[in-house]
Amino acid sequence: MDFQLTEEQLAVQAAARDFAQNDLLPGVIERDTHEKFPAEQIKKMGELGFMGMMVDPKYNGGGMDTVSYVLAMEEISKVDSSASVAMSVNNSLVCWGLEKYGTEEQKEKYLKRLATGEILGAFCLSEPEAGSDATSQRTTAEDKGDYYLVNGTKNWITNGNSASVYLVIAQTDKEKGHKGINALIVERETEGFVVGKKEEKLGIRGSDTHSLMFQDMKVPKENRIGEDGFGFNFAMSTLNGGRIGIAAQALGIASGAYELALKYSKERKAFGKEISQHQAIAFKLADMATQIETARLLCLKAAWLKDQKQDFSQASAMAKLYASQVAMDTTVEAVQVHGGYGFVKEYHVERLMRDAKITQIYEGTSEIQKIVISRNILK
Ligand code: CAA
Repeated sequence: MDFQLTEEQLAVQAAARDFAQNDLLPGVIERDTHEKFPAEQIKKMGELGFMGMMVDPKYNGGGMDTVSYVLAMEEISKVDSSASVAMSVNNSLVCWGLEKYGTEEQKEKYLKRLATGEILGAFCLSEPEAGSDATSQRTTAEDKGDYYLVNGTKNWITNGNSASVYLVIAQTDKEKGHKGINALIVERETEGFVVGKKEEKLGIRGSDTHSLMFQDMKVPKENRIGEDGFGFNFAMSTLNGGRIGIAAQALGIASGAYELALKYSKERKAFGKEISQHQAIAFKLADMATQIETARLLCLKAAWLKDQKQDFSQASAMAKLYASQVAMDTTVEAVQVHGGYGFVKEYHVERLMRDAKITQIYEGTSEIQKIVISRNILK
């Protein structure tokens, strides 16, 4: 066992930290307040190689390991989770899914541009009545010979109005249940593709979350990912990796809040000494540091298993379940350490607290992670 990061991993971590502090931090409060998507910053993330980190260089990716991806996600999420969720969806759902299961033509046509961040991708599984119960897809993709006729609505789609390429999960044969579901690559310009309402959210307010409507949309057969009926398994397999990204996001939110609380506790004085010297605060910091370290180890273990090409579905569910709880607990305590200052925007921790909540919901709620984990244990 080796807990040491490589030179390359340390360099990625440092580059992500620099970018987050120099490019994301200055405007983050304003973007959160005005629900402004960090388009310019995400463009720069593409230039720096953060949008297709694990993609093979032959498809313009960074050829990095998943451990490096976790390190970068943590640093970026310490500051701006609206940027990091776009990064996570593009890297681990869209790029990874296409690279693993797409045809050579699909990789040439879509992956090469997604991996550089030239275009953004979105992952369209959730529906108004199919969130956790993902097999209950109402979006239909009727087989019409050389194309699918797609109709339906998708909800809460990250990068909904900013993406150019959408991976859409839809039911082709209801009789076959989840074996009758397909995953289709849909271009934004497709006739019948309609961007619906933008969601106003508690957290990750800069993230571009929309509903989408598909009205008699014709999607060519060559845009199907994998064999006929593979769509649900595609979504599940892809989400296993996605959950590592969201776990790392939760870790970043927690460690960002902890770093701010630590700094503040050494500056603020009460009852004649720095508040960090009061046991009430020191013990909070000790709990935060311990829980964050545990979450980090779970994230890195899941990433390592994926890099070793071993089964990582349980590990990624555990990492997400635990890290998202740590994100909630740590951010609430970080606000408490800041007292009244924690309740105002300028000190950042209230935003981190609001951003933390979504990590217990998207890419599988905490309850879904417990289903994944318990089924693994009990099988
Ligand atoms: N990894 C691989 N395969 C899996 C899997 C996993 N974690 N979980 C299920 N599967 C496979 C099963 O092996 C089975 O395949 P076969 O039929 O080939 O054997 C198939 O999927 C169906 O499995 P189940 O019978 O267990 O299905 P189920 O309906 O009982 O439950 C579930 C499955 C785990 C609850 C699943 O529905 C689920 O994960 N739901 C949550 C959906 C989710 O995470 N949505 C997130 C939306 S995307 C998002 O948030 C992105 C964003 O924008 C940030």
